[in-house]
Amino acid sequence: MVQPISVFKGLEGVYVTESALSLIDSENGVLYYAGYDVKELVERSSFEEVVFLMLHQRLPTSSEFTEFLKLLRRSQELEPIHIETIRKYAGVTDILSLLAMLIVLEGRGKIGGNSNDFNAAVNAVAKMGSFFSTIIRVRYGGDYIPPRRDLSFPENLLYMMNGEVPSREHADVLDDLLILHAEHGIPASTFASLVAASTLSDLYSSIAAGILALKGPLHGGASEASYAQALSIGSVEKVPEWVQLTLSEKKKIMGFGHRVYKIYDPRATIVKNIIARFMGSMNSEVKKVYEITRALEEYGEKYLASRGIYPNVDLWTPILYRMIGLPADSFTALFAVSRTAGWVAHILEYWRENKLIRPLHLYVGERPRKYIPLELRTGS
Ligand code: ACO
Repeated sequence: MVQPISVFKGLEGVYVTESALSLIDSENGVLYYAGYDVKELVERSSFEEVVFLMLHQRLPTSSEFTEFLKLLRRSQELEPIHIETIRKYAGVTDILSLLAMLIVLEGRGKIGGNSNDFNAAVNAVAKMGSFFSTIIRVRYGGDYIPPRRDLSFPENLLYMMNGEVPSREHADVLDDLLILHAEHGIPASTFASLVAASTLSDLYSSIAAGILALKGPLHGGASEASYAQALSIGSVEKVPEWVQLTLSEKKKIMGFGHRVYKIYDPRATIVKNIIARFMGSMNSEVKKVYEITRALEEYGEKYLASRGIYPNVDLWTPILYRMIGLPADSFTALFAVSRTAGWVAHILEYWRENKLIRPLHLYVGERPRKYIPLELRTGS
């Protein structure tokens, strides 16, 4: 008897590879990077250390970390070709698309498949940070500021963007956000980067595939969409009616729901705890978005929690992004900077036993038929 063929739409529930990078404990709501609880990493580690952890699946020794930081800092410097491209396109395209363009440029002449290409992986993370800051700086009328070797990755990111060394608080918040978004298994963007890498495309082009898959509001674009959603709701009083209307029209609330978590996203809890530390120093716009988001969480959960749909990290991150001065159209791009750590680690890991990713589709179209020349066709 012919077995029926199962089609797994959206690859839901399908394991496509093995990985030692992260464990999502979706029952208990804990996320681990190479065995370390991300909550502890946010509290005690740094983004730079997490990049090392992703690439080597262990924490560095002190001397290893010193060498690693030297490489990272060196790689943060941009070349004339990057700066000229940014000057040319920063004002005419969105930040994420330009990031993809620049990282593709970085891959010129390179070949893929080297699972030990740690230098390229570090270079990619470093360059993404500098691309991000410089695109924003140039968009707002400034010009390239070289990174400073005495500043940390998040400090440099804000320094190159604003021309001023950031406060300790802002750099720490950014560091936390970078750690939180560094890795999360195989969502659409990481899968896209693996699909490209599995063809032995180069590392940088594979990252570009990830960047472009991050763009949509169902994935990385959700934070910008969630921020725009809060602004468009306008006030706390309008939230209950807005939630009811949105759900009755079968539309989605941005910042709610997750393919893997059917409980509260643990990253959202971490973000909320960080926000709580800054309640007193929010400006009026951020405070308003905070109040609306709180109401949205309350009313959204009232209707959606019974279906396993809870707030995800992107409901709350816009508040921190705005608090540290990021433009509202840069959130997804910052996510890409951070997730580059996960993408490169997954790509190198995958290349150790590379297998071309080539799934099947179940054909449901017409059976084979004869071609009829145009002049002989009589209609359907
Ligand atoms: N608001 C309202 N209803 C929702 C939501 C939501 N945010 N999310 C899912 N649902 C409903 C769907 O309408 C659908 O209902 P139906 O069965 O009556 O048709 C059902 O739940 C299943 O939804 P799917 O989208 O098929 O489920 P999936 O597992 O693919 O959902 C997803 C995951 C895409 C993230 C979804 O929850 C969503 O679109 N959320 C909003 C966008 C968002 O916040 N994305 C960020 C995710 S986190 C990240 O990528 C970093």
